[in-house]
Amino acid sequence: HGYFTFDPGFLATGSCESAITFIDGGKGVLLHRGYPIDELATQADYLEVCYMLLHGEAPDEETYAEFKDAITKHTMVHQGIHNFFNGFRRDAHPMAMLCAVTGALSSFYHHDLDIHDSEQRLRSAYRLVAKMPTIAAMAYKYSMGQPFVYPRNDLSYSENFLNMMFSVPAEEYQVNPIIAKAMDRIFTLHADHEQNASTSTVRLAGSSGANPYACIAAGVASLWGPAHGGANEACLRMLEKIGSVDKIPEYIEKAKDKDDPFRLMGFGHRVYKNFDPRATVMRDTCHEVLQELDIDDPLLDVAMELERIAREDEYFIEKKLYPNVDFYSGIILKAIGIPTSMFTVIFALSRTVGWVSHWHEMMSEENQKIGRPRQLYTGHTQRKFSPLKK
Ligand code: CMC
Repeated sequence: HGYFTFDPGFLATGSCESAITFIDGGKGVLLHRGYPIDELATQADYLEVCYMLLHGEAPDEETYAEFKDAITKHTMVHQGIHNFFNGFRRDAHPMAMLCAVTGALSSFYHHDLDIHDSEQRLRSAYRLVAKMPTIAAMAYKYSMGQPFVYPRNDLSYSENFLNMMFSVPAEEYQVNPIIAKAMDRIFTLHADHEQNASTSTVRLAGSSGANPYACIAAGVASLWGPAHGGANEACLRMLEKIGSVDKIPEYIEKAKDKDDPFRLMGFGHRVYKNFDPRATVMRDTCHEVLQELDIDDPLLDVAMELERIAREDEYFIEKKLYPNVDFYSGIILKAIGIPTSMFTVIFALSRTVGWVSHWHEMMSEENQKIGRPRQLYTGHTQRKFSPLKK
């Protein structure tokens, strides 16, 4: 319309209308469909949250049972998907496998999909929510050189994931209820976060009419970076690098040094400038899990001490840098026995429901437009081309 706003990083640009998630970063508020995240994380389970994100309302008992049944029945992947894994190197990053195999789902499930039909969109959404844990666990099993474990319909969403991760033919994994609950909570706390980089990527990809499996693969790619979902992995790697409690002050100084690119991973957030409400719940869960498992790990001592020092340091207080959700989730996942390279994969499978909810919401808009930002051009002005042979 003749006006133009230059806003790199989209600090002040609203890209859509959405009724899914509300954040007040100043007050540390996060609501899904109006419900506070701490209430959901402690009183609901992940599938209830999935239902409300997708459908707008919390389910009643009957709807919940139907939804759970529908998700459970979609957890298997086409046998042909198994073949994709053989093409990957054993040491491939599981996010590389997740990204590729999620995109490949479109070659199995997309052919007859009408993205303008709400029911068909929801069916794809259910498929993605159901199959992501299966694919995630397959990526892990492949990297371990262990056989894939098929999903089990008698287990809950988080129990089934843990079983697919840790069962081996010689011995079935015995699910510890405290660990299953912590896993479920990690899924819930990552389920959605309005227009973050990966969700915006899914919306932008979907705005052209692309199929949902390809759009979610784009979301996985965007999430992978260390400034976003890759932070949980980067945080654990940082803790390993710090190594011992006596090295913490050195790294705190590095983080404060403007000439040093090092940042404390798992600290700070674009939107939360007070505290991250997800981190508060995650912190409690973290302590619960460590106590239950009676874990004595020097890395966890480093994490707890780093948190204490950073919380009292002027620089971090002044810049409002608090531990975010990924600081504690990494510690819990490590305690559960999940390898560092799987951390972002777990974020991705949890966030899938958020991505598909936003895609579904966008596709149901009457005047849905293709996303197409503008730019400030900084290249040459027009000049004469001189052909190569001259
Ligand atoms: N360690 C040290 N200094 C930091 C950190 C940090 N983790 N985060 C921000 N700062 C400083 C930064 O140097 C800047 O200082 P100055 O004002 O002197 O230039 C100031 O704080 C503001 O930082 P910014 O990069 O302009 O803030 P942003 O809103 O663009 O970035 C962030 C937010 C999350 C990318 C950033 O805080 C960061 O890189 N954190 C570490 C990575 C991380 O933990 N990411 C996970 C975010 S939560 C999960 C998710 O939702 O994806």
